[in-house]
Amino acid sequence: MKYKIQKAKVEDVPHIYKLVNKFAKKNLMLPRVLNEIYEKILEFFVIKYKNKLIGCAALHITWTGKDQEVLAEIRSLAIEENYQNKGLGSSLVTKIEKEAKKLGVEKIFALTFTPEFFKKLKYEVVSRDTLPHKIWTECINCPFFMECKEVPVVKQLK
Ligand SMILES: CC(C)(COP(=O)(O)OP(=O)(O)OC[C@H]1O[C@@H](n2cnc3c(N)ncnc32)[C@H](O)[C@@H]1OP(=O)(O)O)[C@@H](O)C(=O)NCCC(=O)NCCS
Repeated sequence: MKYKIQKAKVEDVPHIYKLVNKFAKKNLMLPRVLNEIYEKILEFFVIKYKNKLIGCAALHITWTGKDQEVLAEIRSLAIEENYQNKGLGSSLVTKIEKEAKKLGVEKIFALTFTPEFFKKLKYEVVSRDTLPHKIWTECINCPFFMECKEVPVVKQLK
């Protein structure tokens, strides 16, 4: 299957929005608002097949303070249903890891409802208190704040 992974463009935003929120409605991932996707478009990578957007993921850098590791988070990872289980999700994560390494990121993590997928990519499930407090600050805006079921998974890049 000939697909392309590339940096997202502004024209991709409505498609990313649709894809992410389709899965969010099924409680498989967190919802994102349109405005946020526009503002964070530089963080997004997309997969296209015959010019159609079939997957997306974002790389979000977090600086947690002097003398601490530079962390990055994989966010909003989604592959269209008809294209799942073909290795595309894995390829997108690998691309994000490469970009993170290029930027000097030492450790990458995700908060996920599908830890099994990440385990296959050598991520380790960790307890919440091993990640810095700062990464939880956005949780206050999350609809699942009071009953969060996301599992933190981590991979050391350096
Ligand atoms: C999770 C998701 C991104 C995986 O993408 P994908 O392209 O289907 O995954 P891949 O084909 O690269 O799968 C790699 C491996 O992970 C496994 N896997 C894929 N999705 C899985 C899931 N939801 N649960 C457990 N294992 C999964 C595959 O079976 C495959 O295993 P194998 O190597 O032994 O065959 C995709 O299913 C998806 O978009 N799901 C809906 C949204 C979602 O859950 N996003 C994740 C939020 S962090």
